[in-house]
Amino acid sequence: MIIDCDPGHDDALALLLAVGDPRLRVRGVTTVAGNQTLDKTTRNALRMLALAGVTDVPVAAGCDRPLVGTLSVAEQIHGASGLDGPDLDGPTAEVADVHAVELTRRLLLDSAEPVTLVALGPLTNVALLLRRHPKVTPRVRRVVFMGGSTGRGNTTPYGEFNIVTDPEAADIVLRSGLPTTMIGLNVTHQALATAEVIAEFRGMGTRVGTVCAELMTFFASAYERVFGLPHPPVHDPIAIATVIDAAIVRTVAAPVAVELAGAHTRGATVVDLHGTTGREPNVDVAVGIDVDAFWGLLMAAVRRVGGA
Ligand code: BDR
Ligand code: CA
Repeated sequence: MIIDCDPGHDDALALLLAVGDPRLRVRGVTTVAGNQTLDKTTRNALRMLALAGVTDVPVAAGCDRPLVGTLSVAEQIHGASGLDGPDLDGPTAEVADVHAVELTRRLLLDSAEPVTLVALGPLTNVALLLRRHPKVTPRVRRVVFMGGSTGRGNTTPYGEFNIVTDPEAADIVLRSGLPTTMIGLNVTHQALATAEVIAEFRGMGTRVGTVCAELMTFFASAYERVFGLPHPPVHDPIAIATVIDAAIVRTVAAPVAVELAGAHTRGATVVDLHGTTGREPNVDVAVGIDVDAFWGLLMAAVRRVGGA
């Protein structure tokens, strides 16, 4: 897989899951502006890979703003650094000297088999790849993205952060014809970092486990302050988990459109679960999640990365 991300507390755990599960091969990590500015999300991706002791995965920075309009970061959720909470060490590796889209193109061409793209932030880099390099599109096995919702949003009443940040990019990806899986808020809000979850991370007795506990403690306080939710949803690792084990989520094929023009709903994912639009399904939409199985995968990976 190739992971496109904007770390971000939940992106950080997603990276640990991806590098910690023995069934996955992470060919590259690319970064995008979203939760924080591009320089910060890139530094954070490098810091998480350094924490995990991963030295052989290239990291490339991508787009520093959405395709249209200006960037609005989620500092109230992820802090000034994008990964506030733990006292993380700096990166040990350099960022690649190619753009994220170019690194992705090369990795797709180099791979003997199709590669899954997992997008954990705004879909800007993925959309640009599809527009600039349509010939490599068949080498993408599937796009699995965390974003959208079958119901309400978290950034506007009906808009989820990753889609609201770059609706045009999401529209391009969803209309690309590629096999696509949507991991939306309707499932991610079932996997919550409770006090027990945080205690389990801390109880591992490793540096990686402690960092996870500190990340989730900060994330919890932000969610409490902003949304009045005591336990934060751990969004992004669920997208990685579904690549490890498709049974983690239950999906239905449905037509999904991105609202680009709504006076109050720009960036909303309009999910037609009952076939009322008569459109062809274009997305496998996650509608259910095996929460226990998800935590089992994530905890095992964090233990493995930490050497517990
Ligand atoms: C998504 O937005 C970001 O803040 C998180 O990292 C996640 O990708 C949830 O809406
Ligand atoms: Ca993210």
